Amino acid sequence: MITLITRSPDKAADYIRCGELVAFPTETVYGLGADLFNLQALASIFRVKGRPIDNPLIVHIAALEQILEVANRISPSAQKLIENFFPGPLTVVLPKKKDIPVIATAGLQTIGIRMPRDPLAQEFLRACGVPVAAPSANRSGRPSSTTWQAVKNDLDGRIRCILRAPHMSEVGLESTVVDCLGSRPVVLRAGAITLESLCQVIPSTRLVSDSSDRDIRHRSPGTRHRHYAPHARIELVDNEREAIVRAKKMCCLANAAYIGMPEESDKIRIKHHSAMDKFKLRLLCDDLAIYARSLFDFFRRCDEEKIPLICCQRVATTGLGLALMDRLTRAAR
Ligand code: TXA
Ligand code: MG
Repeated sequence: MITLITRSPDKAADYIRCGELVAFPTETVYGLGADLFNLQALASIFRVKGRPIDNPLIVHIAALEQILEVANRISPSAQKLIENFFPGPLTVVLPKKKDIPVIATAGLQTIGIRMPRDPLAQEFLRACGVPVAAPSANRSGRPSSTTWQAVKNDLDGRIRCILRAPHMSEVGLESTVVDCLGSRPVVLRAGAITLESLCQVIPSTRLVSDSSDRDIRHRSPGTRHRHYAPHARIELVDNEREAIVRAKKMCCLANAAYIGMPEESDKIRIKHHSAMDKFKLRLLCDDLAIYARSLFDFFRRCDEEKIPLICCQRVATTGLGLALMDRLTRAAR
């Protein structure tokens, strides 16, 4: 199969209506989209990605009116979150409509719904005219794609079309997934809509717990699978100094990579770095948002360079840091 790479949302949407798979950009990561009501197209998503069939898909919509095409009802908590955060990097989990194909929700009675805010994504979804089921557009287990080139690397020849955005995805981490079935929303996956901002709207919002939320965890199988991982071994460190020591011990500094944020003490020290004393790839991000945006792309660049070890700086688990640490610890498993 030849994969068409286009900038035209209308052309890309034509393929969705013909039952083909289309990778499309959103502000979080690229999605691998199919018509929610086309069983064969849905099956192709799982085949093409190598995705376990027990992992449900998120449905993407262009307009709020489409929510009731896929959900049975909108709970009061979901209503509030939707009012505040749609369109945006938030997925709400609601009871699903009966006629939603079983394969899309992996047999669950619920469905994750998201309305992206990226203008190109919106144009594309509007042109599709149907709800679009889409996981992240990467081979299963790999880091999500934040550029069209990453999508091409993983899926070229396996899907009909890639809708190409001019820039890297703005957020760079997947959406915040919130279970809105009970009165108290539960964050199943941290993302750019932070726990703090959710709590400002609904103060009782809480993070899913590994120990006491077995049943809820079971309902979000994606959180059980290994995820977001490059081929390299990932080591979490507090700072670059620790990374250098670790890399020297584990392989060779010149083969290893480092991603983190600049520190005052580091800036001074790096000046005195000898030419012999350098990582093969090193990325210092000026703030948390840039760190989050760059992470998956950095992982992929390290894979291309066949780097065996990537040291990543830990961050505080507040704000966006919660999502970033979630992806880092999963990749480090
Ligand atoms: O930002 C994103 O969410 C991207 C873009 C493309 O929208 N999509 C994405 O999809 O990351 P995926 O399939 O890679 O991750 C979806 C996550 C999985 O952890 C899955 O288990 C969870 O959402 N999920 C989907 N439907 C669910 C449901 N009905 N109940 C609980 N969790 C659900
Ligand atoms: Mg994914």
